[in-house]
Amino acid sequence: MFTAYGKGKKMISQKMQKALNDQLNAELYSAYLYLSMAGYFETIELKGFARWMYTQTQEEQFHAMKLHNYVLERGGKVTLGAIDAPPADWDSPLAVFEATLKHEQKVTGLINDLIYLARDQKDNASEIYLQWYVNEQVEEESNVGTVLGRLKLIKDSPQALFIMDKEMGLRIFTPPAAEGGT
Ligand SMILES: [Fe+2]
Ligand SMILES: [Fe+2]
Repeated sequence: MFTAYGKGKKMISQKMQKALNDQLNAELYSAYLYLSMAGYFETIELKGFARWMYTQTQEEQFHAMKLHNYVLERGGKVTLGAIDAPPADWDSPLAVFEATLKHEQKVTGLINDLIYLARDQKDNASEIYLQWYVNEQVEEESNVGTVLGRLKLIKDSPQALFIMDKEMGLRIFTPPAAEGGT
């Protein structure tokens, strides 16, 4: 069997490697969840909301790739696990964004736990690297919170919902330049 020696030396602990692989899986689940939500919005003809969710999916894929690259960069091994099936239906746009905020809050908790683990392992590089995700979660929770707040204001007004749909459709994915591939 061919043995790939790679960088020769693993620079992360087994425990950290496992936790980062788990987070990679969580990011892919997020992508999966938002893709399912995009599909839901397509079925109720809110194309702008769907666009917003497709963009969110791309962001989550980016988060996953960033972890993938980081594990490899540290001489670790990426192990991909099964991704859970996300829900396929929601009662309303409001219910979707309530679920989204809840999910992002959960992910923030996972990122915090990863940082505590990095500290525990005296893994400075991982601790610093993961700060990017801390900032990203602040932004994500804030964005989702804004959408949720507006949906609460709109209540049952179809007119307002259609105006908001137009605005939601303007969101596009722009990968952060500096942090790009890694
Ligand atoms: Fe993420
Ligand atoms: Fe997210």
